Order: sequence, then C-alpha cells, then structure tokens
Amino acid sequence: MKKFIFVLISIAFSACEVDPSLVDDSVNEMEPVSFVKPPHFPDAIYNLQQNPVTTEGFILGRKLFYDPILSKDNSISCGECHQQYSAFAHGDHQFSHGINGLIGTRNSPPLFNLAFQKDFMWDGGVNNLEVQPLLPITNPVEMDEDINNVVAKLDKLPTYRQLFKSAFGDETINSQRVLRALSQFMVMMISANAKYDKVKLGKETFSTAEQSGYNVFVQKCSACHQEPLFTDLSFRNNGLDLFPKDPGRAMITFDPSDSGKVKVPSLRNLKYTYPYMHDGRFQNLQEVIMHYNCRCTTLCHVGSSAFKWHHIIKYRN
Ligand code: HEC
Ligand code: HEC
Repeated sequence: MKKFIFVLISIAFSACEVDPSLVDDSVNEMEPVSFVKPPHFPDAIYNLQQNPVTTEGFILGRKLFYDPILSKDNSISCGECHQQYSAFAHGDHQFSHGINGLIGTRNSPPLFNLAFQKDFMWDGGVNNLEVQPLLPITNPVEMDEDINNVVAKLDKLPTYRQLFKSAFGDETINSQRVLRALSQFMVMMISANAKYDKVKLGKETFSTAEQSGYNVFVQKCSACHQEPLFTDLSFRNNGLDLFPKDPGRAMITFDPSDSGKVKVPSLRNLKYTYPYMHDGRFQNLQEVIMHYNCRCTTLCHVGSSAFKWHHIIKYRN
C-alpha cells in the first residue's frame, strides 16, 4: 500500500505550463503563447480553429479570470475559487465561499487539460468550455452577476477596450469575446509534465516502488482514471454513498440510474488539490486509498465510527 501511495504522489507532481509570474499584470515581457498538444495526449476536443489562442487573447483572458468585476459587487474573481498554487482548485477548501461569503455545495475542481474534455462540472451540466463561465457568473452563491452587466462594466474601462482591441481587432466588448478570451486562458492550463509524462516520453524511468504502484494503478484504477488524462471522461459512481445526497449526473439526465454518478476526476496534481471528491470529504490521499481499499461498502460508508472501526481492524491485519 505504501508503494501505491508513493506512485499516486508522484503522479501528483505535475506542472501547469502557466508560469506563476504571469499572475501579475506586468505582461510586456511575456513569451508568445500558443496551444501545443502534448505528444502523448489525444486530440483536443475544444475547437481551437474557431477560437485560436493568441498571446493577446490569453492576456485578456487571464486578466478577466483574476478580475472580481465579473461578480455583482466586484468582490469575487474566478481565481478566488480556482487558485494557481492549487492547480486551480480551491486549496484546503471543502466548499468555496462566493459572493457575501455564501457557500456552495460542491468542491471546486482543479482546472487543467480542459481542452481535452467534453463535459464540465461534476455532473457534466455544461458541454462547451466557452459556455461554462456563464454558470459561475450567474450562480447566486458564486458571482451572482449578469453577463450583460459584466460587459457594460468592462466597456466603461479604457484598459479593457484596449485589451479587447489587441485580442480581437477592435474595441467591441461583447459576451462572446469575454467567454472566448476566458477560454483561451483556460485551455492553456495544460498539465503534461509530471514524472509520469517523462516516463511515457522515454525521458525518465520509474523507480521500483513507483513501478509497482503504477502496476497496481493500471490494474485497479485506470479503467476509470484512464491514461494519460487520468480520466475516461465518463460519469461513474465510485461507491462513496449508499444513498447519495448529491444526485450528480441524474440532475442533468433525470435518469435514476445516474444517481450519485459524477465526472471521473483526473488524478493529476493531486498533491495540490486536496480535499478530494465532489464534496471534498477526504482530507488526504490516505483517506482516499482507505475508501478504495474497503471491501465492505456498507460498513465503511454509513458512519464514521463504523468506518474507523473497520479500518483499524483492517490496518492491524
Ligand atoms: C465561488 C467559487 C467559484 C467561482 C467564483 C468560480 N468557480 Fe468555477 N467552479 C466552482 C465549483 C464549485 C465548480 C464545480 C461546480 C459543479 O460541479 O456544479 C466549478 C467548476 C468549474 C469548471 C469546470 C471544471 C471541470 O473539470 O468540469 C470550470 C471550467 C470553471 N469552474 C471555471 C470558472 C471560471 C472561468 C470562473 C469565473 C468566471 C469560475 N469558475 C468561478 C467554483 C467556483
Ligand atoms: C469505477 C470507476 C473508478 C475506479 C475503478 C476508481 N475510481 Fe477513483 N474516482 C472515480 C470517481 C467517479 C471519482 C469521483 C467521486 C466523487 O467525487 O463522487 C473518483 C475520485 C477519485 C479521487 C479524488 C480525486 C479528486 O480530485 O477529488 C482519487 C484520488 C481517486 N479517485 C483515486 C483512485 C484510485 C487510486 C483508484 C484505484 C484504487 C481509483 N480511484 C479507482 C471513479 C473510479
């Protein structure tokens, strides 16, 4: 088991290609930006021909992402709940606080490799990255704003008019351009430089411990957490609850058999994205492993005392 945790942690070591220094506004010395598919990745699903990433579009998207002007009282930006140091998840937060300190019901997922995904949100309620920002912008517990109002606010600011001109050719600010600029920033969050990737590209090799952890992973986990994205992009129930509180995918399909199914999350960057699961119930990877190591679902998941008892017995064996 120790070996297994080791490889998970190794997989977790992964770098987003967006440099930390880019968070501030001093963009003049930035290298040109363009989307490059990692060689061992599948083709992008996001339509990059329709909205090609340019340096100017990326700069605008990044500024919008970190600007609280997107929220009703100008207090919450996308970056509040999607923090770079946490692979763009909300580090150490089970649930994020949005406008007026209001709390949501799901754990903020990390943001990376979005160009390779077909559905967004835990329940897959959005099937186009360009549409996705409309949900947090209008969600009453997140940003509680109206996209037309965002456009009106931005239009009053000469800096933004200039940035839109650089990105799209003229000063027109409209919702489509806001959403496309945000997408240009988000598709550049690529995670493809972990030790795992270096091994796959023949640049490094796994240690013996990593290799045996990887072997367990391939056997037990990769059916759902499929390489190289570490998700097969499907909706599944991994047995967390007998009676799921969050209907998950069933909220979208209205199919009772989808109850408790959520989008299989990637296992990249796990080191930075705790707590885990759609409701952030597990604080660390050991708790995750204990969940998967549990043979008796009812005992493990009905209550914490039964849970502890079961695992104490198990770990003594
Ligand atoms: C108050 C916290 C909060 C704010 C602000 C916020 N998000 Fe999120 N974000 C979340 C949560 C929580 C989810 C998961 C929601 C769900 O599954 O219902 C999410 C999901 C996403 C996803 C889907 C990721 C995936 O893997 O499916 C994207 C993309 C995203 N947010 C981008 C943004 C952008 C862009 C903004 C700003 C316009 C933003 N978020 C603002 C909390 C937030
Ligand atoms: C049947 C498909 C399936 C298998 C097999 C599976 N998982 Fe998962 N895994 C999921 C789903 C679905 C979730 C999200 C569940 C939720 O949040 O409700 C998940 C969540 C996780 C998370 C939390 C990720 C996060 O960002 O919150 C980790 C870590 C994880 N799995 C590791 C593993 C490991 C290790 C194995 C092998 C021992 C494994 N999984 C096997 C489907 C699976």
